[in-house]
Amino acid sequence: MNLMKVVVTRKIPRVGIDVLEDAGLEVVGNPSDRLLTEAEMKDFVKGADAILCLIVDRIDKEVINAAGSNLKIIANYGVGFDNIDVEYSKSKGIMVANTPSELSSRAVAEFTFGLIFALLKRIVEGDEFARRGDMGGWKPEIFLGENLEGKTLGIIGLGRIGSLVAQIARAFGLRVVYNKRNRDLEAEKRYKLEYMSFENLLRESDIVSLHIPLTPETKHLINSRTLELMKDDAYLINTSRGGVVDEVALVEYLKKGKLAGAALDVYEYEPEINPELCGLPNVVLTPHIASSVQAVRDDMAIMAAKNIVEALNGKVPTNLVK
Ligand code: DGY
Repeated sequence: MNLMKVVVTRKIPRVGIDVLEDAGLEVVGNPSDRLLTEAEMKDFVKGADAILCLIVDRIDKEVINAAGSNLKIIANYGVGFDNIDVEYSKSKGIMVANTPSELSSRAVAEFTFGLIFALLKRIVEGDEFARRGDMGGWKPEIFLGENLEGKTLGIIGLGRIGSLVAQIARAFGLRVVYNKRNRDLEAEKRYKLEYMSFENLLRESDIVSLHIPLTPETKHLINSRTLELMKDDAYLINTSRGGVVDEVALVEYLKKGKLAGAALDVYEYEPEINPELCGLPNVVLTPHIASSVQAVRDDMAIMAAKNIVEALNGKVPTNLVK
């Protein structure tokens, strides 16, 4: 009897593979553990019943077609799924699932504060300076940073991560304003948040933090028009998806001092980082690691694998992307 085949595009924590194998599935991993080219991917997925892929794998029409008629589910190892042609999958009756791990949301929310502190307290610049041996004794006015208390944090997107960011922010004495498609009166009450239109949020916030998925509607939401609305001494934090920000416009605004700084964990053309960003002192850059915690990665592996097991057993996966 032929086992159902799951192809796993990159190395993921073993706990996820165990779930698949324990369910009696054949698991085929990418032996190279590097990003597959489009041609390699098409070859790799051939005949699969399920694809377990990463957010960096482009699963487009051609890849889906190359998999063939056995394919039942594409399980993304990640919360975001902008790498998958969901509409096309649906039209072919193929399910798409993701891994909205609570641990992951917590990790990203905490990391957001790591970036806020790094930026406003100038920790990265200070670290580089100290390592260079340039310290030369304590001085009252070097690397002047800012306190968070009393500042206004504008959260764009009050989903799982945005809500946690709001909750943590209140503990630091920040005033929190937010924007989302549908007002969340309960969260407003619980965390003492103020709802604002997108434009007003940009005008009022000292720190703007992005917590929205990348979709055709959110692409370049932060662009020269919207950056123009922000205060000259405001900061931008992005732990969502790079494409939400027009990086060329961001560089321009940072250079001309129309924005105090930015901290980015994600990039428009990942893994490429605009070299101009790398040259700016008022920018903190990290390599898409906001949710990089072992417990999170294990949780994501188990979730992705369970989504597959459910789908291949004729059930609707717990984390079906609707
Ligand atoms: C996600 O899950 O979408 C993150 O960006 C990667 O961990």
